[in-house]
Amino acid sequence: MSIKTATLNGVATIEIARPEKKNALTVAMYQAMTDALVAARQDAAVRAVLITGQPGIFTSGNDIEDFMKRAPGQGSDAMDSPVFRFMRALLDCDKPVVAAVTGAAIGIGTTMLLHCDFVYVSDEARLAMPFVALGLVPEFASSLVVPQLMGHRRAAEKLLLGDPFTPEQAVECGIANAVLPAVEVVNHARRVAERFNQLPPGAVREAKQLMRGPQHELVLQTIRTEGELFARRLRSPEAMEAFQAFFQKRPPDFSKF
Ligand code: COA
Repeated sequence: MSIKTATLNGVATIEIARPEKKNALTVAMYQAMTDALVAARQDAAVRAVLITGQPGIFTSGNDIEDFMKRAPGQGSDAMDSPVFRFMRALLDCDKPVVAAVTGAAIGIGTTMLLHCDFVYVSDEARLAMPFVALGLVPEFASSLVVPQLMGHRRAAEKLLLGDPFTPEQAVECGIANAVLPAVEVVNHARRVAERFNQLPPGAVREAKQLMRGPQHELVLQTIRTEGELFARRLRSPEAMEAFQAFFQKRPPDFSKF
């Protein structure tokens, strides 16, 4: 089982557990995470959601083999793909979502953090959004939110060059709340999630809704625009070269494009 779920003391935990593949996310895993988010939303006993990974790895992002075999379709198909449904469930979650970033968070591993309410990062974690280097484009409103958070110049380092960033930089630019020693990050995040057991759930829900603010529509529109381009790029020769290079454990060669 690559996604483990459990509800304890008011907290629904979604644990990404595929360490042999660095927690790369497959279609089945996105479906399991979507189901868990929907169930958490419907269960009145759940007051917050915790998303976590394995020691040393949060997630290496989309499973690249899955990408090559089953790229999401285009148009409405893309919007109905498992990864879209997962991200939509995350955006629609009206309960607080806390992320414990236990290690590297690559690609959607970082993108999903932009849509969590609290993010705690292990001091051993690295974040990166290497979409362009993979022949792809930013996804799930990262092209909107990342420049807003850190300004265009620093966003260009992360989104165009794909430079990884440290936990401290993630805090400094507002993606994360705090850096914790690796052995403490999950417990700390859990304690934050459990604080919602003492708070009135209706007020929390409405406050979270308000915090989405007028930008929410723009976020959804950006996700659709990015999604169209992303789905097209997945089939591009540039992306194929990048994916093949990853599995052949060699640097990609973009000189012919
Ligand atoms: N998709 C599919 N398989 C992946 C994967 C991914 N995103 N990330 C890692 N794996 C697999 C590797 O192919 C390898 O499989 P193998 O043992 O059968 O060869 C295994 O997981 C271990 O990965 P490896 O690269 O050897 O581990 P590492 O510790 O040297 O590096 C990462 C870890 C996360 C830095 C590295 O795996 C990586 O860069 N992954 C790709 C990240 C990425 O580009 N994600 C964006 C996708 S949009």
